[in-house]
Amino acid sequence: MSENLHQLRCFGCGSRIAGAEARPDFRCAQCGELFEVEYPGWSQRGGHDRPNPGALKWLWRERRCSGESLDESGVWRFRELLPILENFGNAVTLREGNTPLYRLPRAEKALGIDRIFAKHQGMNPSGSFKDTGMTAALSVARERGFDWVACASTGNTSAAMAAYAARAGLRSLVLIPEGKIAWGKLSQAMDYGAVTCQLKTDFDGCLKVLTEIVNQQPIYLLNSVNPYRIEGQKTPAFEIAEALDWNVPDHLIVPGGNLGNSSALGKGFREMRDLGMIPRLPKISVIQAAGANPLVRSLAANRGASLEPVEAHTRATAIRIGNPASWRKAAKVIEESGGSCLDVSEAEIAMAKAEIGFEGLGCEPASAVTLAGLKKLRAQGVVRADETVVLLLTGHTLKDADYTIDFHRGTLLTDDEKKGLEGGIDALRRNAISLDATPAAVLSALKGKVG
Ligand code: F0G
Repeated sequence: MSENLHQLRCFGCGSRIAGAEARPDFRCAQCGELFEVEYPGWSQRGGHDRPNPGALKWLWRERRCSGESLDESGVWRFRELLPILENFGNAVTLREGNTPLYRLPRAEKALGIDRIFAKHQGMNPSGSFKDTGMTAALSVARERGFDWVACASTGNTSAAMAAYAARAGLRSLVLIPEGKIAWGKLSQAMDYGAVTCQLKTDFDGCLKVLTEIVNQQPIYLLNSVNPYRIEGQKTPAFEIAEALDWNVPDHLIVPGGNLGNSSALGKGFREMRDLGMIPRLPKISVIQAAGANPLVRSLAANRGASLEPVEAHTRATAIRIGNPASWRKAAKVIEESGGSCLDVSEAEIAMAKAEIGFEGLGCEPASAVTLAGLKKLRAQGVVRADETVVLLLTGHTLKDADYTIDFHRGTLLTDDEKKGLEGGIDALRRNAISLDATPAAVLSALKGKVG
Protein backbone atom coordinates (compact mmCIF):
# COMPACT_ATOMS: atom_id res chain seq x y z
CA MET A 1 0.00 0.00 0.00
CA SER A 2 1.26 3.48 -0.80
CA GLU A 3 2.06 5.58 2.22
CA ASN A 4 2.50 8.55 -0.06
CA LEU A 5 -0.23 11.15 0.37
CA HIS A 6 1.45 14.32 -0.75
CA GLN A 7 1.66 16.78 -3.60
CA LEU A 8 3.80 19.85 -4.21
CA ARG A 9 2.41 23.36 -4.18
CA CYS A 10 4.34 26.30 -5.61
CA PHE A 11 5.02 28.92 -2.98
CA GLY A 12 4.83 31.65 -5.63
CA CYS A 13 1.96 30.99 -8.05
CA GLY A 14 0.19 28.22 -6.12
CA SER A 15 0.27 25.68 -8.95
CA ARG A 16 0.21 22.06 -7.85
CA ILE A 17 2.15 19.10 -9.20
CA ALA A 18 2.76 15.49 -8.20
CA GLY A 19 6.00 14.91 -6.27
CA ALA A 20 7.69 12.99 -9.07
CA GLU A 21 6.96 15.80 -11.58
CA ALA A 22 9.28 18.35 -9.94
CA ARG A 23 12.14 19.64 -12.08
CA PRO A 24 15.66 18.61 -10.99
CA ASP A 25 16.30 22.09 -9.55
CA PHE A 26 12.95 22.06 -7.65
CA ARG A 27 11.91 25.39 -9.17
CA CYS A 28 8.38 25.92 -10.48
CA ALA A 29 8.19 25.69 -14.28
CA GLN A 30 5.59 28.51 -14.29
CA CYS A 31 7.15 31.14 -12.02
CA GLY A 32 10.55 29.86 -10.79
CA GLU A 33 9.63 29.82 -7.08
CA LEU A 34 10.15 26.90 -4.69
CA PHE A 35 7.60 24.23 -3.77
CA GLU A 36 6.15 23.18 -0.47
CA VAL A 37 4.86 19.70 0.32
CA GLU A 38 1.15 19.59 1.09
CA TYR A 39 -1.19 16.80 2.12
CA PRO A 40 -4.62 17.27 0.51
CA GLY A 41 -6.27 14.69 2.78
CA TRP A 42 -5.63 16.79 5.87
CA SER A 43 -7.86 19.65 4.88
CA GLN A 44 -11.13 17.75 5.07
CA ARG A 45 -12.36 17.85 8.65
CA GLY A 46 -13.47 14.37 9.69
CA GLY A 47 -11.94 13.05 6.46
CA HIS A 48 -10.36 9.62 6.35
CA ASP A 49 -6.78 10.90 5.92
CA ARG A 50 -6.91 13.71 8.48
CA PRO A 51 -4.61 12.88 11.39
CA ASN A 52 -6.19 12.57 14.83
CA PRO A 53 -4.24 14.79 17.29
CA GLY A 54 -5.00 12.85 20.49
CA ALA A 55 -4.19 9.47 18.94
CA LEU A 56 -0.97 10.76 17.41
CA LYS A 57 0.31 12.31 20.64
CA TRP A 58 -0.17 8.97 22.34
CA LEU A 59 1.33 6.94 19.48
CA TRP A 60 4.42 9.14 19.12
CA ARG A 61 5.21 8.86 22.80
CA GLU A 62 4.69 5.06 22.73
CA ARG A 63 7.19 4.78 19.90
CA ARG A 64 9.93 6.13 22.15
CA CYS A 65 9.91 2.74 23.85
CA SER A 66 9.93 0.80 20.59
CA GLY A 67 12.96 -1.04 19.20
CA GLU A 68 11.88 -0.67 15.54
CA SER A 69 14.40 1.39 13.58
CA LEU A 70 11.78 3.80 12.19
CA ASP A 71 10.37 4.37 15.67
CA GLU A 72 13.84 5.03 17.04
CA SER A 73 14.25 7.93 14.62
CA GLY A 74 13.10 11.30 15.94
CA VAL A 75 11.96 12.10 12.41
CA TRP A 76 10.17 8.92 11.32
CA ARG A 77 8.57 8.58 14.75
CA PHE A 78 6.32 11.37 13.43
CA ARG A 79 5.78 9.71 10.04
CA GLU A 80 2.03 10.32 10.00
CA LEU A 81 2.87 14.00 9.46
CA LEU A 82 5.39 13.32 6.70
CA PRO A 83 3.83 10.71 4.42
CA ILE A 84 6.26 11.39 1.57
CA LEU A 85 7.40 7.86 0.71
CA GLU A 86 5.61 5.11 -1.22
CA ASN A 87 6.96 2.72 1.38
CA PHE A 88 8.46 3.71 4.73
CA GLY A 89 10.71 0.67 4.40
CA ASN A 90 12.80 2.86 2.06
CA ALA A 91 13.67 5.30 4.85
CA VAL A 92 17.41 5.75 5.44
CA THR A 93 17.94 6.51 9.11
CA LEU A 94 20.84 7.02 11.50
CA ARG A 95 18.54 7.51 14.52
CA GLU A 96 18.43 11.24 14.01
CA GLY A 97 16.30 13.60 16.06
CA ASN A 98 15.14 12.98 19.63
CA THR A 99 17.59 15.72 20.57
CA PRO A 100 17.66 17.22 24.07
CA LEU A 101 15.83 20.35 25.16
CA TYR A 102 18.11 21.84 27.82
CA ARG A 103 17.39 24.63 30.31
CA LEU A 104 19.91 27.51 30.23
CA PRO A 105 19.94 28.60 33.89
CA ARG A 106 22.80 31.09 33.51
CA ALA A 107 21.15 32.83 30.60
CA GLU A 108 17.81 32.89 32.46
CA LYS A 109 19.47 34.65 35.36
CA ALA A 110 21.54 37.03 33.25
CA LEU A 111 18.61 38.09 31.06
CA GLY A 112 15.86 37.93 33.69
CA ILE A 113 13.69 35.54 31.72
CA ASP A 114 11.75 32.74 33.45
CA ARG A 115 12.47 29.92 31.02
CA ILE A 116 15.10 29.69 28.33
CA PHE A 117 15.63 26.35 26.62
CA ALA A 118 18.11 25.24 23.99
CA LYS A 119 16.91 22.65 21.51
CA HIS A 120 20.30 21.21 20.65
CA GLN A 121 20.20 19.95 17.10
CA GLY A 122 23.97 19.61 17.21
CA MET A 123 23.30 16.35 19.06
CA ASN A 124 22.29 14.65 15.81
CA PRO A 125 24.38 11.83 14.27
CA SER A 126 26.49 14.07 12.02
CA GLY A 127 26.48 16.91 14.53
CA SER A 128 23.95 19.29 13.01
CA PHE A 129 20.25 19.89 12.41
CA LYS A 130 20.70 18.92 8.77
CA ASP A 131 20.30 15.24 9.61
CA THR A 132 16.58 15.58 10.19
CA GLY A 133 16.08 16.99 6.69
CA MET A 134 18.56 14.66 5.10
CA THR A 135 16.95 11.45 6.31
CA ALA A 136 13.72 12.58 4.66
CA ALA A 137 15.04 13.84 1.32
CA LEU A 138 17.68 11.18 0.84
CA SER A 139 15.06 8.50 1.46
CA VAL A 140 13.04 10.01 -1.39
CA ALA A 141 16.17 9.89 -3.61
CA ARG A 142 16.65 6.22 -2.82
CA GLU A 143 12.99 5.38 -3.38
CA ARG A 144 13.04 7.13 -6.75
CA GLY A 145 16.05 5.10 -7.85
CA PHE A 146 18.82 7.72 -7.96
CA ASP A 147 22.45 6.51 -7.75
CA TRP A 148 23.91 9.97 -7.16
CA VAL A 149 22.96 12.79 -4.79
CA ALA A 150 24.56 16.23 -4.47
CA CYS A 151 24.53 19.47 -2.53
CA ALA A 152 26.26 22.83 -2.33
CA SER A 153 27.14 23.56 1.26
CA THR A 154 28.77 25.69 3.90
CA GLY A 155 29.70 22.35 5.48
CA ASN A 156 26.92 20.85 7.52
CA THR A 157 24.60 19.87 4.69
CA SER A 158 27.50 18.14 2.98
CA ALA A 159 28.48 16.26 6.14
CA ALA A 160 24.89 15.08 6.64
CA MET A 161 24.34 14.19 3.01
CA ALA A 162 27.60 12.25 2.75
CA ALA A 163 26.74 10.26 5.88
CA TYR A 164 23.22 9.31 4.77
CA ALA A 165 24.37 8.56 1.21
CA ALA A 166 27.04 6.23 2.56
CA ARG A 167 24.44 4.54 4.70
CA ALA A 168 22.15 4.03 1.72
CA GLY A 169 24.95 2.92 -0.62
CA LEU A 170 24.51 5.99 -2.88
CA ARG A 171 27.31 8.13 -4.34
CA SER A 172 27.47 11.77 -3.29
CA LEU A 173 28.88 14.97 -4.76
CA VAL A 174 29.70 17.95 -2.53
CA LEU A 175 30.40 21.49 -3.76
CA ILE A 176 31.87 23.78 -1.12
CA PRO A 177 33.41 27.26 -1.20
CA GLU A 178 37.18 26.84 -1.05
CA GLY A 179 38.73 27.90 2.24
CA LYS A 180 35.42 29.05 3.71
CA ILE A 181 34.16 26.05 5.64
CA ALA A 182 35.20 24.66 9.01
CA TRP A 183 37.68 21.77 8.90
CA GLY A 184 35.54 19.48 11.02
CA LYS A 185 32.80 19.58 8.40
CA LEU A 186 35.14 19.09 5.47
CA SER A 187 36.70 16.08 7.19
CA GLN A 188 33.27 14.50 7.58
CA ALA A 189 32.46 14.67 3.86
CA MET A 190 35.79 12.97 3.14
CA ASP A 191 35.32 10.35 5.83
CA TYR A 192 31.87 9.39 4.54
CA GLY A 193 33.24 9.00 1.03
CA ALA A 194 31.77 11.96 -0.87
CA VAL A 195 33.37 13.35 -4.05
CA THR A 196 34.27 16.68 -2.48
CA CYS A 197 34.96 19.66 -4.76
CA GLN A 198 36.19 22.97 -3.37
CA LEU A 199 35.20 25.74 -5.78
CA LYS A 200 36.74 29.18 -6.03
CA THR A 201 33.50 30.94 -5.19
CA ASP A 202 31.12 31.38 -2.27
CA PHE A 203 28.13 29.22 -1.20
CA ASP A 204 25.79 31.06 -3.53
CA GLY A 205 28.18 30.41 -6.44
CA CYS A 206 28.37 26.71 -5.55
CA LEU A 207 24.58 26.38 -5.55
CA LYS A 208 24.41 28.07 -8.94
CA VAL A 209 26.94 25.66 -10.45
CA LEU A 210 25.17 22.67 -8.94
CA THR A 211 21.80 23.76 -10.29
CA GLU A 212 23.23 23.59 -13.81
CA ILE A 213 24.74 20.17 -13.16
CA VAL A 214 21.52 18.57 -11.88
CA ASN A 215 19.67 19.95 -14.90
CA GLN A 216 22.08 17.96 -17.10
CA GLN A 217 22.73 14.74 -15.17
CA PRO A 218 20.56 12.28 -13.20
CA ILE A 219 21.82 13.57 -9.86
CA TYR A 220 19.35 14.28 -7.06
CA LEU A 221 19.68 17.74 -5.49
CA LEU A 222 19.64 17.71 -1.69
CA ASN A 223 19.87 21.39 -0.79
CA SER A 224 16.97 22.86 1.15
CA VAL A 225 15.33 23.97 -2.11
CA ASN A 226 14.33 20.29 -2.10
CA PRO A 227 10.94 20.39 -0.35
CA TYR A 228 11.46 17.00 1.30
CA ARG A 229 14.37 18.44 3.28
CA ILE A 230 11.90 20.86 4.82
CA GLU A 231 9.57 18.00 5.76
CA GLY A 232 12.29 16.36 7.86
CA GLN A 233 13.42 19.64 9.35
CA LYS A 234 9.93 20.50 10.58
CA THR A 235 10.01 17.61 13.08
CA PRO A 236 11.99 19.44 15.82
CA ALA A 237 8.86 21.62 16.11
CA PHE A 238 6.92 18.46 17.06
CA GLU A 239 9.60 17.48 19.55
CA ILE A 240 9.63 20.91 21.17
CA ALA A 241 5.84 20.92 21.58
CA GLU A 242 5.87 17.35 22.89
CA ALA A 243 8.66 18.09 25.39
CA LEU A 244 6.66 21.07 26.72
CA ASP A 245 3.58 18.84 27.07
CA TRP A 246 1.97 20.44 24.01
CA ASN A 247 2.35 23.93 25.42
CA VAL A 248 3.82 26.24 22.82
CA PRO A 249 6.82 28.38 23.79
CA ASP A 250 6.28 32.12 23.45
CA HIS A 251 9.36 32.54 21.28
CA LEU A 252 11.44 30.32 19.05
CA ILE A 253 14.73 31.85 17.90
CA VAL A 254 16.50 30.41 14.87
CA PRO A 255 19.70 31.29 12.98
CA GLY A 256 19.17 32.38 9.38
CA GLY A 257 21.41 31.35 6.47
CA ASN A 258 19.78 29.87 3.38
CA LEU A 259 16.55 30.15 5.43
CA GLY A 260 15.34 26.57 4.98
CA ASN A 261 15.34 25.84 8.68
CA SER A 262 13.17 28.74 9.80
CA SER A 263 10.77 27.88 6.97
CA ALA A 264 10.67 24.26 8.10
CA LEU A 265 10.04 24.97 11.77
CA GLY A 266 7.34 27.46 10.85
CA LYS A 267 5.67 24.80 8.70
CA GLY A 268 5.87 22.28 11.53
CA PHE A 269 4.18 24.59 14.02
CA ARG A 270 1.62 25.73 11.44
CA GLU A 271 0.64 22.15 10.64
CA MET A 272 0.28 21.27 14.31
CA ARG A 273 -1.94 24.32 14.83
CA ASP A 274 -4.06 23.58 11.77
CA LEU A 275 -4.55 19.98 12.91
CA GLY A 276 -5.59 21.14 16.39
CA MET A 277 -2.55 19.75 18.23
CA ILE A 278 -1.49 23.12 19.62
CA PRO A 279 -3.51 26.28 20.16
CA ARG A 280 -1.22 28.85 18.53
CA LEU A 281 2.16 29.49 16.93
CA PRO A 282 5.24 30.62 18.84
CA LYS A 283 6.71 33.92 17.65
CA ILE A 284 9.48 32.71 15.34
CA SER A 285 12.43 35.08 15.05
CA VAL A 286 15.33 34.74 12.63
CA ILE A 287 18.78 36.06 13.50
CA GLN A 288 21.48 36.69 10.90
CA ALA A 289 25.12 37.71 11.15
CA ALA A 290 25.49 41.44 10.45
CA GLY A 291 27.80 40.68 7.53
CA ALA A 292 25.34 38.22 5.98
CA ASN A 293 21.97 39.83 6.59
CA PRO A 294 19.99 39.98 3.33
CA LEU A 295 16.68 39.09 5.00
CA VAL A 296 17.10 41.74 7.71
CA ARG A 297 17.69 44.29 4.96
CA SER A 298 14.80 43.10 2.84
CA LEU A 299 12.30 43.29 5.71
CA ALA A 300 13.56 46.74 6.71
CA ALA A 301 13.58 48.08 3.14
CA ASN A 302 10.34 46.74 1.71
CA ARG A 303 8.75 44.40 4.28
CA GLY A 304 9.98 41.35 2.38
CA ALA A 305 8.54 42.25 -1.03
CA SER A 306 11.92 41.63 -2.67
CA LEU A 307 15.41 40.62 -1.60
CA GLU A 308 18.67 42.17 -2.72
CA PRO A 309 21.54 39.64 -2.47
CA VAL A 310 24.59 40.78 -0.48
CA GLU A 311 28.22 39.70 -0.55
CA ALA A 312 28.39 37.78 2.70
CA HIS A 313 31.15 37.98 5.31
CA THR A 314 31.12 36.37 8.73
CA ARG A 315 33.28 33.99 10.73
CA ALA A 316 30.10 32.02 11.41
CA THR A 317 30.83 30.28 8.11
CA ALA A 318 27.71 28.11 8.25
CA ILE A 319 25.55 31.18 7.63
CA ARG A 320 27.85 33.00 5.23
CA ILE A 321 25.10 33.24 2.62
CA GLY A 322 24.16 36.35 0.65
CA ASN A 323 21.35 35.09 -1.57
CA PRO A 324 19.15 32.78 0.53
CA ALA A 325 16.96 30.45 -1.51
CA SER A 326 14.07 30.16 0.95
CA TRP A 327 13.75 33.82 1.90
CA ARG A 328 10.11 34.14 0.86
CA LYS A 329 9.09 31.19 3.01
CA ALA A 330 11.05 32.51 5.99
CA ALA A 331 9.60 36.02 5.60
CA LYS A 332 6.10 34.51 5.70
CA VAL A 333 6.91 32.52 8.86
CA ILE A 334 8.18 35.65 10.61
CA GLU A 335 5.15 37.65 9.55
CA GLU A 336 2.44 35.12 10.35
CA SER A 337 3.98 34.21 13.72
CA GLY A 338 4.64 37.83 14.76
CA GLY A 339 8.38 37.19 15.08
CA SER A 340 11.34 39.49 14.48
CA CYS A 341 14.34 39.47 12.21
CA LEU A 342 17.58 41.10 13.29
CA ASP A 343 21.31 40.85 12.97
CA VAL A 344 24.18 40.57 15.43
CA SER A 345 27.84 41.52 15.23
CA GLU A 346 30.86 39.24 15.15
CA ALA A 347 31.72 40.17 18.75
CA GLU A 348 28.16 39.51 19.92
CA ILE A 349 28.22 36.08 18.26
CA ALA A 350 31.57 35.20 19.86
CA MET A 351 30.42 36.24 23.33
CA ALA A 352 27.14 34.36 23.07
CA LYS A 353 28.98 31.25 21.93
CA ALA A 354 31.30 31.40 24.96
CA GLU A 355 28.26 31.84 27.23
CA ILE A 356 26.56 28.78 25.74
CA GLY A 357 29.84 26.95 26.37
CA PHE A 358 29.65 27.93 30.05
CA GLU A 359 26.23 26.30 30.24
CA GLY A 360 28.07 23.03 29.52
CA LEU A 361 26.51 22.72 26.09
CA GLY A 362 28.60 24.50 23.50
CA CYS A 363 27.58 25.03 19.90
CA GLU A 364 29.05 26.22 16.66
CA PRO A 365 29.26 29.97 15.95
CA ALA A 366 26.20 30.10 13.67
CA SER A 367 24.05 28.63 16.45
CA ALA A 368 25.17 31.29 18.92
CA VAL A 369 23.43 34.06 16.96
CA THR A 370 20.28 32.85 18.71
CA LEU A 371 21.44 33.85 22.19
CA ALA A 372 22.99 37.06 20.85
CA GLY A 373 19.64 37.83 19.21
CA LEU A 374 17.70 37.00 22.36
CA LYS A 375 19.74 39.55 24.31
CA LYS A 376 18.70 42.21 21.83
CA LEU A 377 15.06 41.16 21.81
CA ARG A 378 15.03 41.23 25.62
CA ALA A 379 16.63 44.69 25.67
CA GLN A 380 14.00 45.90 23.19
CA GLY A 381 11.22 44.50 25.40
CA VAL A 382 10.07 42.12 22.66
CA VAL A 383 10.73 39.19 25.01
CA ARG A 384 9.25 39.60 28.51
CA ALA A 385 10.44 38.27 31.87
CA ASP A 386 7.60 35.76 32.31
CA GLU A 387 7.94 34.16 28.89
CA THR A 388 9.29 30.84 27.60
CA VAL A 389 11.96 31.00 24.94
CA VAL A 390 13.49 28.20 22.88
CA LEU A 391 16.81 28.80 21.13
CA LEU A 392 17.53 26.44 18.27
CA LEU A 393 21.18 25.39 18.44
CA THR A 394 21.97 24.08 15.00
CA GLY A 395 25.48 22.61 15.24
CA HIS A 396 27.88 20.91 17.63
CA THR A 397 30.75 22.88 19.17
CA LEU A 398 33.33 20.43 17.71
CA LYS A 399 32.32 21.34 14.17
CA ASP A 400 34.49 24.46 14.32
CA ALA A 401 37.10 24.04 17.06
CA ASP A 402 39.45 26.57 15.40
CA TYR A 403 36.95 29.35 16.05
CA THR A 404 36.68 28.44 19.72
CA ILE A 405 40.44 28.23 20.22
CA ASP A 406 41.01 31.55 18.44
CA PHE A 407 38.39 33.16 20.69
CA HIS A 408 39.97 31.93 23.91
CA ARG A 409 43.45 32.84 22.71
CA GLY A 410 42.22 36.33 21.95
CA THR A 411 43.08 36.16 18.24
CA LEU A 412 39.57 35.82 16.82
CA LEU A 413 38.34 39.40 16.75
CA THR A 414 39.96 42.62 15.55
CA ASP A 415 40.26 45.62 17.86
CA ASP A 416 37.63 47.33 15.79
CA GLU A 417 35.17 44.46 16.25
CA LYS A 418 35.77 44.37 20.01
CA LYS A 419 35.27 48.11 20.51
CA GLY A 420 33.24 48.81 23.63
CA LEU A 421 33.01 45.11 24.54
CA GLU A 422 36.64 44.41 25.53
CA GLY A 423 35.85 43.87 29.23
CA GLY A 424 32.99 41.48 28.57
CA ILE A 425 34.99 39.52 26.03
CA ASP A 426 38.10 39.21 28.21
CA ALA A 427 35.99 37.96 31.12
CA LEU A 428 34.81 35.10 28.94
CA ARG A 429 38.20 34.00 27.62
CA ARG A 430 39.77 30.84 29.08
CA ASN A 431 43.04 30.35 27.28
CA ALA A 432 45.04 27.17 27.95
CA ILE A 433 48.02 27.82 30.24
CA SER A 434 51.49 26.34 29.57
CA LEU A 435 53.22 25.31 32.82
CA ASP A 436 56.10 23.28 34.19
CA ALA A 437 55.03 19.73 35.08
CA THR A 438 54.97 20.29 38.83
CA PRO A 439 52.16 20.45 41.39
CA ALA A 440 53.47 23.83 42.51
CA ALA A 441 53.11 25.30 39.04
CA VAL A 442 49.55 24.01 38.67
CA LEU A 443 48.62 25.16 42.18
CA SER A 444 49.94 28.61 41.41
CA ALA A 445 47.56 28.76 38.45
CA LEU A 446 44.68 28.00 40.86
CA LYS A 447 45.78 30.58 43.42
CA GLY A 448 42.83 32.40 44.89
CA LYS A 449 40.37 30.27 42.91
CA VAL A 450 40.03 27.06 44.97
CA GLY A 451 38.51 26.86 48.46
N1 F0G B 1 23.34 26.90 11.56
C1 F0G B 1 24.19 26.02 11.01
C2 F0G B 1 25.14 25.31 11.91
C3 F0G B 1 24.16 25.76 9.62
O1 F0G B 1 24.99 24.86 9.10
C4 F0G B 1 23.24 26.48 8.81
C5 F0G B 1 23.19 26.26 7.38
C6 F0G B 1 22.38 27.38 9.44
C7 F0G B 1 22.46 27.57 10.81
C8 F0G B 1 21.36 28.14 8.69
O2 F0G B 1 20.28 27.34 8.35
O3 F0G B 1 20.40 27.69 5.90
O4 F0G B 1 18.42 26.65 6.96
O5 F0G B 1 18.90 29.07 7.29
N2 F0G B 1 24.01 25.56 6.73
C9 F0G B 1 23.89 25.18 5.32
C10 F0G B 1 24.92 24.16 4.94
C11 F0G B 1 23.69 26.27 4.39
O6 F0G B 1 25.30 24.07 3.76
O7 F0G B 1 25.34 23.41 5.81
P1 F0G B 1 19.43 27.71 7.05
